[in-house]
Amino acid sequence: MKTRVLTGITTSGTPHLGNYAGAIRPSIQASQQEDVDAFYFLADYHALIKCDDPERVARSRLEIAATWLAAGLDPQRVTFYRQSDIPEIPELCWILTCVTAKGLMNRAHAYKAAVDQNLARQLEADDGITMGLFSYPVLMAADILMFNAHKVPVGRDQIQHLEMARDIAQRFNHLYGDGRTLFVQPEVLIDDAVATLPGLDGRKMSKSYDNTIPLFEGGARALHAAVRRIVTDSRLPGEAKQVQDAHLYTLYQAFATEAQSLSLRADLAAGLGWGEAKERLFTLIDAQLAPLRARYEALMAAPDEIEDILRAGATRARALATPLMEAVREAVGLRAARRPAARTKAPAEASTRRSARFVSFRDEDGRFRFRLLDAQGETLLVSEAFEDPRRAGACVRTLQAGLQEHWLEVGPDTVLLRLDGALVSRFDADRLDAVRAAL
Ligand code: TRP
Repeated sequence: MKTRVLTGITTSGTPHLGNYAGAIRPSIQASQQEDVDAFYFLADYHALIKCDDPERVARSRLEIAATWLAAGLDPQRVTFYRQSDIPEIPELCWILTCVTAKGLMNRAHAYKAAVDQNLARQLEADDGITMGLFSYPVLMAADILMFNAHKVPVGRDQIQHLEMARDIAQRFNHLYGDGRTLFVQPEVLIDDAVATLPGLDGRKMSKSYDNTIPLFEGGARALHAAVRRIVTDSRLPGEAKQVQDAHLYTLYQAFATEAQSLSLRADLAAGLGWGEAKERLFTLIDAQLAPLRARYEALMAAPDEIEDILRAGATRARALATPLMEAVREAVGLRAARRPAARTKAPAEASTRRSARFVSFRDEDGRFRFRLLDAQGETLLVSEAFEDPRRAGACVRTLQAGLQEHWLEVGPDTVLLRLDGALVSRFDADRLDAVRAAL
């Protein structure tokens, strides 16, 4: 079976060199593997959360589509589409919104960061925060669950959103699945081998630091000019240079073969000037980008061609989205009036289906943990990390059999939960009553 890999690209800017090395290049490489069924899409509904400039949104959609196509995305192989061409996505988003605990969204990093900023500026907690920003993780869950993606390659900042998508999927399956798995549990894919490029000043390349190197914008000249602005130490030509702290070298490595990197390193140690090294870096990158840039410019000059490609992608995507959405509508009871209800829930089942439950997951380090969620999907406790998933499973089963008071060590702020002497979880003392009620 092929692995379905899905990822979204928010269309609120112009791609830079860091986006190319960190996302575009590896994603296109992944899509060329035989056993991968790639779904890449322009997350243009997400763009509206960050950007209320219609011209910029329109331009960015075009630029990003052209960039990915120019970089080698094969639209025959990859299902490449715009989120806003799939009306089933916002439809699913609403239905998922109805099973998502508000408390879960309250804890989203992006929302919390916005609140913290407001409080730091002595504004109202929710000042300027839209419902779009607040419920953004539900839209992202709809993007992913709509196509039953197995793997979702994202940056570290998105790990929490993937966990939320899993939570939402599980909750929906639990409430409406009736024994079937309507939604696949997606897994986050973080590739540590992928380059995170430093920007001109050595910090992560990012528009918010204003330290980016353009990818295609401004052509070879703009690329050259940016490379010349890379900050280096002040060693003069002739002086030996170390590459350890030189982000110029990190940039070089992201485009060079091992042999090329070693040779630059040796030359710098032997006194090569930074100016010369920058010329080499420019020559290296430009040789790789020039053919892509030519394709990019040709595509930007023919937006109709891009439009056709994206519409064809949307048709393919909708061939999957339409039947899935039908099944979802049916499952939640949005059925045709003429058909009798397919099933009625027994009252006992109906009353227990909102009870507390355990959810297992893998953390960033690949270790196994579980959460205890209350009936509303609020987290009551998170376990410590286990190397062995069976050990985590055994703890869950012990707890499911009923809580014993001697497992608890209750402090003024924190409660420690131990099983067989081993610490299993540490949680806020003000959750204790809820934990007792749940178990
Ligand atoms: N939120 C993601 C980001 O900012 C973009 C995105 C939207 C996405 N929907 C997605 C990524 C679905 C993966 C899957 O990077």
